[in-house]
Amino acid sequence: MDHYENRKFKRYLGYFLILSSILIFWKIMTIEKDNGLLIGDLKDRLRIYQYKLHLTPQQMILLNMLENDKHLDDMPFIYAITPTYYRYVQKAELTKISQTLMLVPNIHWIVVEDSEEKTALVTNLIAESGLKVTHLTAKTPPFEKLKAKDPRWKRHRGVEQRNKGLSWLRSNMQLGKDKGYVYFMDDDNTYSIKLFSEIMKIKKVGVWPVGLVGGFSVETPVLNRETGKVESYKSGWKPQRPFAIDMAGFALSLDLILAKPYANFSYKMDKGFQESQFLSYFTTKEELEPLADNCTKVYVWHTRTENPVVRAEVKGYEV
Ligand code: UGA
Ligand code: MN
Repeated sequence: MDHYENRKFKRYLGYFLILSSILIFWKIMTIEKDNGLLIGDLKDRLRIYQYKLHLTPQQMILLNMLENDKHLDDMPFIYAITPTYYRYVQKAELTKISQTLMLVPNIHWIVVEDSEEKTALVTNLIAESGLKVTHLTAKTPPFEKLKAKDPRWKRHRGVEQRNKGLSWLRSNMQLGKDKGYVYFMDDDNTYSIKLFSEIMKIKKVGVWPVGLVGGFSVETPVLNRETGKVESYKSGWKPQRPFAIDMAGFALSLDLILAKPYANFSYKMDKGFQESQFLSYFTTKEELEPLADNCTKVYVWHTRTENPVVRAEVKGYEV
C-alpha cells in the first residue's frame, strides 16, 4: 500500500467508525425509549386495575414509588435478624415468616442458623422465597444450649445468632453511608405487615406493644398523657426493668448499631434482661419513640408453637 492509499483507507475506516457509532447510539436510544413506554404503560394499567387486583398496602407503596420514579434502592432497608434452629416445626415457622416478609418491599432478611453448617432445608427455603437474604450460621455452645427437659428461662436463646447478625452488619455496612433499621425477628412470632411501616418511622429506637407475652394479653410501654413519651411499662414480668420490652417490641436505626460496635448480647446478662441491657447501650427511656398509634395497636404477637408429638416419620417427605 502506498502512502496515498493508506490515507484513503484510514479515512474510510474513520467514516465507518463514525457511522457505526451513530447507529449503535441510535439503537440504544430507541431501546431506552421502548422501556420507558413499557413502564409508563404498566403504571397506567396498575393504576386502573388497582382495586380489581386487590393490591396490598406494600404493593401500593411500590406502585407509588414507580409513579414518582423513585427506586427501591433509595429506600432504607429493614434488616431483620432471625435466629433459627432445627426442630419439627422449623420449616413451618420459616414458611410463615418468609411469606410475611414477601409482602414487605424493603426487607433484607438475615437468617442465622444455630448449626455448624448451613442446612439444605433453610438454604432451599430461602432460595424459593426470592427474598433478599444473608444466610449465616452461629452455633450455640453446648453448655448454653437448652436441654429438652429444661425450663425455657434456664438459658438465653438466640444470643450467638443475633451477635453474628450484628457483626455481619458491622463488617458490611458503612456508618454515614448505609441507612436502615435493625429488627430482631424471632422465627416463631407472628408479625403483621403493618409493623414494617411503623419501623420506617424510627429515628433512633422505636417501641410498640407485643401481644401474648409474659402472662399478659399484651405488654406495652405506658405513655405520659401530657408529653406522649414512655413513662413506665405494663409487663407481666419485672415491669421495673430499665426497658421492660420483649425482643419483638423494639427496633433501632442501623446508625446506632454501626456507631456502637461493642454493643452485643451476652450470656453474662441476667436471665430475662437481654433486651434491657442491650437497649441500655443505645438509649434512655425518655428517648424512646412510641409507635403503633402511640402504643395502642398490636402488630406483633409472641406466639409459641407447640412442640408436636411425632410418633412416626413418614419417609420421602421433608416436613
Ligand atoms: C423470649 C424472647 O422473645 C426472645 O427474643 C429471647 O431470646 C428469649 O426469650 C430469651 O430470654 O432468651 P422465647 O419465645 O422464650 O423468647 O424464645 P425462643 O423463641 O425459643 O428463641 C428465640 C429465638 O432464638 C428464636 O428465633 C429461636 O429460633 C432461636 N433459638 C432458640 C436458637 O437459635 N437456638 C436455640 O437453641 C433456641
Ligand atoms: Mn419465641
